[in-house]
Amino acid sequence: MGFAVAIDGPAAAGKGTIARALADRFHLAYLDTGSLYRAVGAKVQDGMTPLDAARGLCPADLARDDLRSAEAGQAASQVAALPDVRAALVDFQRAFAAQEGGAVLDGRDIGTVICPDAQVKLFITASAQVRTQRRLAELRAAGSDIGFEELLKQVQDRDHRDSTRADAPLRPADDAVLIDTTDMDIQTAIAAAADVIAAKRL
Ligand code: DC
Repeated sequence: MGFAVAIDGPAAAGKGTIARALADRFHLAYLDTGSLYRAVGAKVQDGMTPLDAARGLCPADLARDDLRSAEAGQAASQVAALPDVRAALVDFQRAFAAQEGGAVLDGRDIGTVICPDAQVKLFITASAQVRTQRRLAELRAAGSDIGFEELLKQVQDRDHRDSTRADAPLRPADDAVLIDTTDMDIQTAIAAAADVIAAKRL
């Protein structure tokens, strides 16, 4: 097995940006596992059953340009609560994590379920208010006119659903290093995460 970095945390805590930067810096492959659930959710919104959508997932599904919307995030969180959907996506994620050159995966259950033996586990979090503010800026830049209160409620609903589901709930692995980015800019957060990896790679 290659060098695996597992990054978990709630929506908009900065884990995607951190994961991409780490993959770049340490020359590791990167998988945004949320995009798998977003693509399944989008196919369900198009009329497929969740299980057919998950089993038939293909690269073109992951290239859709509507996966980052707030609606796709909600749909993803709903299909992600279905054990059959999660089971259908496990093998792909584990194979990705085990690739020779090493990999960074971010999601909700990477350190707990997908890669319990990952060499590095990080749990990236931030207050719901700050995460909502960050996601609002992203969505506004993409042309959305959603308001802060509505988005805060969506973030809180998603946190609740992701962390209370029976199968693979969002929680830090016992051996995860916690990074709270509430009062950090993104470069500081990336540096903190990179320090953890550098220490393990020595
Ligand atoms: O990280 P994201 O916002 O793109 O994730 C979208 C949804 O997918 C999120 O609400 C929960 C789900 N998800 C999951 O259950 N397990 C993962 N490993 C990744 C995402």
